[in-house]
Amino acid sequence: MTRVLFVCLGNICRSPLAEGVFRHHVVQAGLTGAFEIDSAGTGGWHVGESPDRRSVKVAQKHGIDISRQRARKFVEADLERYDEVFAMDRSNLVNIERLATATSSARVGLFLDESDGPRGAEVPDPYYGGRDGFDDVFGMVDAASAALLQRLRGDR
Ligand code: 4NP
Repeated sequence: MTRVLFVCLGNICRSPLAEGVFRHHVVQAGLTGAFEIDSAGTGGWHVGESPDRRSVKVAQKHGIDISRQRARKFVEADLERYDEVFAMDRSNLVNIERLATATSSARVGLFLDESDGPRGAEVPDPYYGGRDGFDDVFGMVDAASAALLQRLRGDR
């Protein structure tokens, strides 16, 4: 069992989409039972909320239902429970690393570093932008999800 956690700021736009898209890749590969997948936010403003309707919509456009996911706050214990913790941007990464302790065992990194693009690339926060931002985010998390699954399967 591999445990994977996606983290952004609010857990309503980017990381819920990453969770849903990566789960979709896992299901398509017939590997459902081999993974535990979740997402969380470093900020707590939206705890308990559904994903932003723009994220729900772009996922739906690609046949993925994320509407039943609910936002939660990232906690220190996540760094022990999860094997892989993926930050959407460098600010999220700093906030995650601030909570690390001697018992933190997770491998922590930027999600887009799984993709072939330049190292250190970020998934931009689409919250205050238009709908195009969400299409762009979808493309980024879809490519990174495919690459991550390949790596975790030992294909690369
Ligand atoms: P997310 O986007 O981090 O991708 O979920 C945001 C959602 C809400 C806020 C910021 C970013 N906010 O400040 O409420």
